[in-house]
Amino acid sequence: MRRKIIAGNWKMNKTPTEAIALINELKPLVATKDADVVFCVPFVSLIPAVEAVKGTDIAIGAQNMYFEESGAYTGEVSPGMLVDIGVKYVIIGHSERRQYFAETDETVNKKVIKAFEHGLTPIICVGESLTQREQGITIDFVRQQVKIAFLNVTADQAKNAVIAYEPIWAIGTGKVATTEQAEEVCSAIRMCISEIYDVATAAAIRIQYGGSVTAASAADLFSQKDIDGGLVGGASLKADFGKIVNYK
Ligand code: PGA
Repeated sequence: MRRKIIAGNWKMNKTPTEAIALINELKPLVATKDADVVFCVPFVSLIPAVEAVKGTDIAIGAQNMYFEESGAYTGEVSPGMLVDIGVKYVIIGHSERRQYFAETDETVNKKVIKAFEHGLTPIICVGESLTQREQGITIDFVRQQVKIAFLNVTADQAKNAVIAYEPIWAIGTGKVATTEQAEEVCSAIRMCISEIYDVATAAAIRIQYGGSVTAASAADLFSQKDIDGGLVGGASLKADFGKIVNYK
């Protein structure tokens, strides 16, 4: 039985001072024995966030990292730096990074490999645009993103990965995918993992849905066979996140 994982993607929101206040507000609300809970906060809030969740089961994640160990890469943050401060997860290939910061399937793959090398759990984001959905190529497109993301990743590593299926048209728009749409793609992703690796790897890997998840939609989405939780943006910055985590 896969354990649910519910992660908040704070994006570029909250100063470190505000972040700690929000973490302290959310801490009692997200307490659960039934799911892994992750707060993916901006880089500058990572250190105080790790400190603020000490003594709880909440893990801290970054929203990006670079795929080199160190060197002349002004402005970048390495996986070793994240590990050193106690970060456990890293979001890789979010559609906003693909759209605004020129991330490609190839850089996503390099980052996934590096994250595993350092013992970080990648939350690998995939998802189609509205045009692609209308063209009927959603599954083909997402399968391609998954296949490239996992190039040269071993089955043992892949088992521990998290994939977030986030249709771009559903992110920050209030237009949540229907449970059928979300389950169809998450199930196709699991099938793709089973083709790349084997049935055991596909059964172990956790697949989240992301895109306008709210307290009202969480229960239906997260109870689908192939949906193992969510990557939550807007609603993760509010007390509602507690309801999403305790969706049952
Ligand atoms: P949203 O964002 O919940 O605000 O739609 C989700 C995400 O981008 O991870």
